[in-house]
Amino acid sequence: MQKTFDVAIEALGGEISAVEPGVRTGARLAEAMPSPPGAARGKSFYIETFGCQMNVHDSEKVAGLLLGRGYRVAASPADADLMLYNTCSIREKAAQKVFSRLGEWRGEKRKIIGVLGCVAQQEGEEIFERAPWVRLVCGSASYRKLPALVDEMEAGGRRVMGLDLGVDETFETEMTLRDNPIRAYITIIEGCDYSCSYCVVPRTRGPERSRASDAILLETRRLADAGYSEIQLLGQTVNSYRDPSPRKLTFVELLRAVASVEGIRRVRFTTSHPNDFHRGIVDAIDSTPALCEHIHLPVQSGSTRVLREMRRTYTREGYLEKISWIRSARRAISVTTDVIVGFPGETEQDFEDTVTLLDQVGYDGVFSFIYSPRPNTTAALMTSAIPESEKSRRLGILQEHQREIQLERNEKLIGQTLEVLVDGRHEARAQWTGRPSSNRIVNFTSPRENLLGEYVQVRVTRAGPHSLMGEHAASV
Ligand code: 5AD
Ligand code: SF4
Repeated sequence: MQKTFDVAIEALGGEISAVEPGVRTGARLAEAMPSPPGAARGKSFYIETFGCQMNVHDSEKVAGLLLGRGYRVAASPADADLMLYNTCSIREKAAQKVFSRLGEWRGEKRKIIGVLGCVAQQEGEEIFERAPWVRLVCGSASYRKLPALVDEMEAGGRRVMGLDLGVDETFETEMTLRDNPIRAYITIIEGCDYSCSYCVVPRTRGPERSRASDAILLETRRLADAGYSEIQLLGQTVNSYRDPSPRKLTFVELLRAVASVEGIRRVRFTTSHPNDFHRGIVDAIDSTPALCEHIHLPVQSGSTRVLREMRRTYTREGYLEKISWIRSARRAISVTTDVIVGFPGETEQDFEDTVTLLDQVGYDGVFSFIYSPRPNTTAALMTSAIPESEKSRRLGILQEHQREIQLERNEKLIGQTLEVLVDGRHEARAQWTGRPSSNRIVNFTSPRENLLGEYVQVRVTRAGPHSLMGEHAASV
C-alpha cells in the first residue's frame, strides 16, 4: 500500500500531531492482515474526517472495514470511487462545512458520495434532500452495518441509510487502518448518558456502552506487537467506563492493566467527565509511570449557576476540589480543559467566574468555544441568547488571559529535560517535534537523523504560550 487515507482535523485539531508524509508505519497493521476474499475488485475509497479524536479513530475503523471488503485506499479524493465524509455537528460551523464540501461533488456521476458521523445521524434523510448526489448516509452508532450498506449500494441501491441508535454493543472491526504511526487510539466506551443542555452528542452517538476489558487488552497487545508504544484510550466520557464482562475491571484497573502490557510506555485517556473523576485516577497516575501526566477535564464554565443551566452535574467548588487532588499528586500532572463562552443568560459576573477559574486551576491548555445553539437540545430553546459580538468579545478576553497563564507556566520549564516521543519533522525550520508525558508540544533541534518514533531527552531552552523549544540532550 502506498498511502493511508488523509485525516482533516477541524476544531480540536491541536491534539493531533503532524506526521511526515510517507512515514506511516501504522499501515503495518493493515499490511499484516491476510488479503480478504474479493480484494481483487479494486474499488478505491477516500475518507475526510472532521471533529474529535473519536471521529478520527472511527475513520480508521471504517477504513479497515472497507479494506476488508476488498477496497483499496485512493491516492486523492479525485481518484476515489467511494468518497466518504466523517462529519462533526458539535457546533453549527462544523456542520455547515460538510454541506459546502459536499457541494464540490455536485453533478459527479462516477463517484459514490457518502456521509458518516454526527451530521449523518442528526440530519438523516435531509441530507439526500439537500445534496441529492449523496448515496450513503450512516451515523456513528451504525458502522457495524456499513458492510451491508456497501453491499446494498453495490447491488444498485440508489440511496442507503444506517441511522439506528438503539445499539447495545460497541463498534469493533477485525482490522483498523491506523493513520497515526506514533499514537494508537483505542475506543473503550462509546456514546454518552449525560444530558448537557447544549450538546448533541447523546443524540448523535447514542447511549453509553463500554467495551469488554479482554477485547481492549487484546487490542493493546496487538498494537504493542505492531510496534506502538503509546496508546490513547478514547471515549466521550472515558472515565465512566464500566467493564461489561465478568472480569468487571474498574476504569482505574483497566488503566493499570493497559499500562502493564509489555512494550507499552505511555497510556493516555480522553475525555474525562468531572462527575466520574475520583482520587483513584490520580493515585494510579502517581504510582504508574506509563500513565501520562495529563488529564483533560472539561469544565465548560466557572459559574455554578451556568453549570446548573448546562446540566453539568457539578459545581465550581466540586470541580476545584478534584483539581486539588490532582495538584497534591507527586507528579506534575498537566490539566487541560474545554470552555464554552456566551451560554444563554451568561452574565458578565458568570463570565468573570470562568476567567478567575482559569487562574485558580492554572491550565496548560484550554479549548474555548463560542456557544452554538444545536437542534433538539434544551439550551437551544433558551431565550436569553447573548449577542454574537459579545460572545466574540468574551472569547477574545478569555483566550488572551489563558495565553498569559500558559506562557508563565511554560517558562517555568526552561532548563528542564523532558522525555519526548518524536512524532513529526518540520523540514523548513529543521526541527523535530514531539510530546512529553504532559502532552505539551516540544519543538527541538538535533544533529541526529531519523528520530521519528523515538524517545529522546530534550532540554527546554525557550517557551511560548503554545509550545516549548529545546535541544536534543540524549536518546533514551
Ligand atoms: N456550542 C459550543 N461548544 C460546544 N461544545 C459542545 N457543544 C457545544 C455547543 N453547542 C464544546 C464543549 C465540549 C467540546 C467538545 O465542544 O466544550 O467539551
Ligand atoms: Fe456532550 Fe455532556 Fe456527554 Fe460531554 S458529557 S458528550 S458535553 S452530553
